[in-house]
Amino acid sequence: MIYFDNAATSFPKPESVYNEIFKAMREYGANPGRSGHRLALEASRGIFETRNRLSKFFNAGNPMNIVFTFNCTESLNLGIKGILRPGDHVITTSMEHNSVLRPIKYLEKMGVENTIVKADKMGGINSKDIENAIKPNTKLIVTTHVSNLTGTIMPVGEIGEIAKRYGIYYLLDGAQSAGVYDIDVERMNIDLLAFPGHKGLLGPQGTGGLYIRDGIELDGILQGGTGSASYSLEQPEIKPDKYESGTLNAPGIVGLGEGIRYIEERKIEDIRTYEEELTSHFIEEILKIEGVRVYGPLDVNSQGAVVSINIGNIDSSEVAYILNQEYDIAVRPGLHCAPLAHETIGTFEQGTVRFSFSFFNTHREIEYGIKALGNIAREI
Ligand SMILES: Cc1ncc(COP(=O)(O)O)c(C=O)c1O
Repeated sequence: MIYFDNAATSFPKPESVYNEIFKAMREYGANPGRSGHRLALEASRGIFETRNRLSKFFNAGNPMNIVFTFNCTESLNLGIKGILRPGDHVITTSMEHNSVLRPIKYLEKMGVENTIVKADKMGGINSKDIENAIKPNTKLIVTTHVSNLTGTIMPVGEIGEIAKRYGIYYLLDGAQSAGVYDIDVERMNIDLLAFPGHKGLLGPQGTGGLYIRDGIELDGILQGGTGSASYSLEQPEIKPDKYESGTLNAPGIVGLGEGIRYIEERKIEDIRTYEEELTSHFIEEILKIEGVRVYGPLDVNSQGAVVSINIGNIDSSEVAYILNQEYDIAVRPGLHCAPLAHETIGTFEQGTVRFSFSFFNTHREIEYGIKALGNIAREI
């Protein structure tokens, strides 16, 4: 099958990721941080190495500033619910995933105010609109880095600068950017960075994390065993234990470490350039097909490897069904857990057919995808 659904989760992963997961499960599958025996220590070492690698990758300083979660959704929930209190105000955008919008809507019922800044038709956000939405009680700004619908790259540097100037926390959703676009939490003034391990970072599902800047105390969303301070009935206050209760996904986390190692070896800028080549060729060619509508900036300087399209007025699910059944191509139709983003670009009723590429897609696959769309547009 030709896999163009990398925005949902990347597939395949590097061989070294598969190998390390197997190795962890077969050779040192003990519970990390729970005992002092050799296997438990080896599992703990594997987790620390990934934490360390991630902290360097995002310029996060102390590795303990990285907290492991099971996906980006959990990271976003921890960041959003951990910081906001009744009476606070949060600013976000209409291009967000439900993993941002739903926690914010949940908190609305508890007295946390919100402003959702509307993007333009290309999915772009004007950082001035964010600045204009600031109120005296604004405590947090949450935005995505790259839209999972249109691929639009947000002005995160400008937003981080605004947040810093006003003394507001900035939480970045790196779900569609981590591993492909540079993220430097210091340079970009990011206070909290939510990331999945299983997309651009090339780790397995069941991995994710949250960077928490030094000095920020969040309310944890889970309390339980940490293997530390076991005499106490209170949750430890130290990072990462405060936020990591229960057995960690050790095989997944060491696999994630290998994903990052792979990106470092292949160089993130080369990965990005390759994805840009695929994306820009795909956009250029499908724009020539009669009946195909392409959404978003249509320019890889402002767009990641995510391309949303429609063919005439056909339901996006039908196009995805044909691609799957007749061409063995995997894409994602519908609303992509981003209803406001679809409202913003005018596709709430029809949805879109989303193509999302990775470093493992080939030029030949892209050509095949273009041909398939040409055929479908002609036949329908
Ligand atoms: C922009 C964005 N944010 C958050 C998420 C949630 O990520 P996860 O599936 O790791 O929970 C996604 C998933 O596709 C996403 O695209």
